[in-house]
Amino acid sequence: MSEKGGSVTILLTGATGYIGRRLKHRLLNDGDVTLRLFVKQGQSVTQREKVEVVEGNTFDRESLDKALRGIDCAYYLIHSMGSDNYRELDQKSARNFLDACIQNKVKRIIYLGGLGEKESASEHLLSRIETGEILSSRPESIQTLWFRAGVIIGSGSASFEIIRNLVEKLPFMITPQWVNTLCQPSAERDVIEYLAQASKLNTEESCVIDIGSEMMSYKNLLLGYARAVGLKRTLIPVPFFSPKLSSYWLTLMTPVPYSVASALIEGLKSEVLVKNDHASTLFSTIIPMRYDEAVKAAVEEIKHTQIISRWSDASGEAWEVNHSDLADAVFTDRQIIPLEGIPEEKLFATICSVGGNNGWFGYELLWKVRGVIDKLFGGYGLSRGRRDPKILRLGDSVDFWKVVDFQENKRLLLFAQMKLPGKAWLEFLIKENKLYQTAYFYPHGLLGRLYWYSMFPFHLFIFRGMAKNLIRKAHNNLPHPKDAGSFRA
Ligand SMILES: NC(=O)c1ccc[n+]([C@@H]2O[C@H](COP(=O)([O-])OP(=O)(O)OC[C@H]3O[C@@H](n4cnc5c(N)ncnc54)[C@H](OP(=O)(O)O)[C@@H]3O)[C@@H](O)[C@H]2O)c1
Repeated sequence: MSEKGGSVTILLTGATGYIGRRLKHRLLNDGDVTLRLFVKQGQSVTQREKVEVVEGNTFDRESLDKALRGIDCAYYLIHSMGSDNYRELDQKSARNFLDACIQNKVKRIIYLGGLGEKESASEHLLSRIETGEILSSRPESIQTLWFRAGVIIGSGSASFEIIRNLVEKLPFMITPQWVNTLCQPSAERDVIEYLAQASKLNTEESCVIDIGSEMMSYKNLLLGYARAVGLKRTLIPVPFFSPKLSSYWLTLMTPVPYSVASALIEGLKSEVLVKNDHASTLFSTIIPMRYDEAVKAAVEEIKHTQIISRWSDASGEAWEVNHSDLADAVFTDRQIIPLEGIPEEKLFATICSVGGNNGWFGYELLWKVRGVIDKLFGGYGLSRGRRDPKILRLGDSVDFWKVVDFQENKRLLLFAQMKLPGKAWLEFLIKENKLYQTAYFYPHGLLGRLYWYSMFPFHLFIFRGMAKNLIRKAHNNLPHPKDAGSFRA
């Protein structure tokens, strides 16, 4: 691997995603890397010290070429899971990336996919395998290190959140037979460590590197979590749990929506086991954390709100429905309230505390009912909560909302990810010594209009109460988010 001035020049894609954000953090701690991020929206990178940011996406060849110029090693941490035709998009994206890497004389691609075999893979896993195959298809021109990991145990990972919610909420669990399927989980810290060290690995060969700790059934994954946190739980596997029923159950009991739950359930049917020993031979200094240690570490991070990233951080399609659509909104509800001497930064800090355990500035019961309705329709409900109780950053999910614009002390724009017959936004704008709180709704057809009119009486007092309570709360002496000492990675 060639180095410039002793430092490897790295391109990190997927830097706003679950793995990418954590890897960025780890690589920056390394000191002797030059790091460039390739992101769809430049403004989503809140911490810009010591990094160069190139905006673009893998379907735009020009942006890829710009990002890959002068790069030694490129991480590929991208997938198109949110789209209906994700398999086709995944293939196109991987091909574009490979071609651009070869043309720009990149020496190494590092990719993270999933454990599992093609013959028994779910549709989602198959797409991850096809991506790995494409990225490794030109070993004569470029080296590819293809990591494969199963369930990742770390704060904010979707699989971990499912395990945590099921075990903590249910003393008895009637489970499908698939809980006896074997898997090999990986601690999130190990995954990040393998990926980070891979940029400096002294080998020229392309290879597949399977990572995972001890082999166990999904049942023991659940029981192991319970033991690690001192809970007693009983699991009773029964034959009548269909994949559909299991997915609905997960949607109701955990923060994941139906689409994510059903993809995960489909994957539970087949074993996901380590098939080679390349991890231990190539990375002899990394001793995989035991499952119980990984659980305890993740729980500690959650306790101390040190969560760098969550499974729901990636923006997906949220950016594309941003500002320009606001002007087209058919229905709006605007509340304007004078600041009454409240400093703008204090009001903004209060605005940024919205959601999760902090609630929605009044009428909490109604918000909870709306959350349950969303869950019943397969949405996120309120169960995603917040990553951090005080700090928000662009791309964060807040219950069933997503932060799509964040202008410090000026504007917070949330996009509704709840199940709706239309598109909705909630904007908090501080301007001319006033708070402008506006709900926007763009209805889809007649159903969308009926929805807005049926909600109208509730909106009347919910939004009015929200603005008033927000101002009231800002009078209390809240610390500024920057003082909270949490991550904005
Ligand atoms: N998370 C896990 O538990 C887990 C387990 C095993 C393997 N893996 C593998 O690890 C990799 C990363 O997963 P993740 O969980 O970190 O995903 P993630 O949180 O969903 O993040 C995906 C990232 O890809 C970016 N992206 C998507 N399409 C793009 C495009 N066309 N051009 C540029 N950027 C694009 C997204 O940007 P935006 O934010 O702008 O949308 C986001 O930063 C995947 O290959 C996955 O299969 C993950």
